Amino acid sequence: MDSIYIYGGNFLRGETKIQGSKNAALPIMAASLLIKGTCVIKNCPRIADVYLMQNLLQELGCSVTWYRNTVTIDATNVIDNAMSGESVRRMRSSVMLLGAMLGRIGEVFMAYPGGCVIGKRPIDLHLTALKKMGVEVIEQEHFFTAKVRKLKAMDYTLPFPSVGATENILLAAVLAEGTTTVRNAAKEPEIEALCGFLKAAGADIEGEGTSTLSIKGVGELREAKYTVPSDRIVAGTYLIAALSSGGSIFLEKAPAEHLGALIKVAGQMGGNITVNEDGVGIDVIRRLKAIPCLRTEVYDGFPTDLQSPMMAAMAVAQGESVLEETIFENRFRIVDELRKMGADIRIEKNKAYVTGKERLVGASVEAEELRGGAALVIAGLGASGKTIIKNRHFIERGYEDICRDFRNLGADINIG
Ligand code: EPZ
Repeated sequence: MDSIYIYGGNFLRGETKIQGSKNAALPIMAASLLIKGTCVIKNCPRIADVYLMQNLLQELGCSVTWYRNTVTIDATNVIDNAMSGESVRRMRSSVMLLGAMLGRIGEVFMAYPGGCVIGKRPIDLHLTALKKMGVEVIEQEHFFTAKVRKLKAMDYTLPFPSVGATENILLAAVLAEGTTTVRNAAKEPEIEALCGFLKAAGADIEGEGTSTLSIKGVGELREAKYTVPSDRIVAGTYLIAALSSGGSIFLEKAPAEHLGALIKVAGQMGGNITVNEDGVGIDVIRRLKAIPCLRTEVYDGFPTDLQSPMMAAMAVAQGESVLEETIFENRFRIVDELRKMGADIRIEKNKAYVTGKERLVGASVEAEELRGGAALVIAGLGASGKTIIKNRHFIERGYEDICRDFRNLGADINIG
């Protein structure tokens, strides 16, 4: 069955290792298309979205092999320029292949990547920027063709610091003629990781981690090896689980430098955080305090991907918390499922008013997307009794083995 079974109410104790970052690995895998040779990507998470990206690369003519968490991609023989609509629609991150394919062969035929329950997920910011680099886009109802003879540099200001649009501009600019300047670029750690990989392959990039990127086009890129950073959202999910359930855990390899906003909030809620060169620990010995106002923001604000997990913790905090979602238009889908477990949550437009209960009650609930599913795991770990979470496959898109990790931390949790 496609479910997770949890017998909740235990404190979390112990330690577990944090996997490589999904949202860094995906654009780096796409970027390997730009190299007429072999790239080695280490610390790559073995998750469904990475396997979907692997399938797309293989459809385009790449060979992909694994050894533990190291994936080797040989893009010498990229021949095709079309990806099947099915593969593309199954994962939005396929849109990152757009910039890479334009840089490699100058033409792409692809379906519009799927939206999902958290929002329409348009790609207008991607296409507008690429058109300024000389790309011609012929749009049909469900598909589009993008082609360019030679990508041209541009000096461009993004209307919104879109992570994906920043990534596509980087992938198109590294081999373009001239120096591209992108202002109001995304500053997420995943952008820095992509720049790190591209620079290891010989790209000439400055400004990563800031909102202004300068990319000087080079003739070609060379074979590269790169290690994916740890996943800040997986680490954040597990820290929030400890906040919610109580206990004392240590997350080996958790990227503290990328978790500043959460660490600050966790302290305000009553968690005692320790950071060292091996990772991040948290001790939670008393009931959580509510947060009067928390809003999601682009990096380095509180991440939207931790909004649903945080809502599950707020559901058992002392007092009323207010959680405002400013990045996606429909990221409160999980509320109805949390209500089945006794959560007291009122939604008004893009704000959730969460009045904490002493404890939630286990129930049968359904995941509808990745981070909402993770929030249900957090709720089940702290709830009394048994929780069954259906549609485990959504959670497996981003978490290598959430049950193994929480069993390492003392939880009674299994797949079923
Ligand atoms: C990336 O998505 C992440 N996915 C998301 O993580 C993350 O939530 C998001 O960045 C924000 O941090 C990957 O990296 C694979 P955006 P992306 O472009 O690139 C709107 C997870 O759970 N927008 O910064 O799609 C968009 O609709 C996932 O791991 C446009 O309007 O995010 C959204 O409201 C979920 N037009 C906002 O901008 C566009 O052309 C942020 O989108 C592009 C985006």
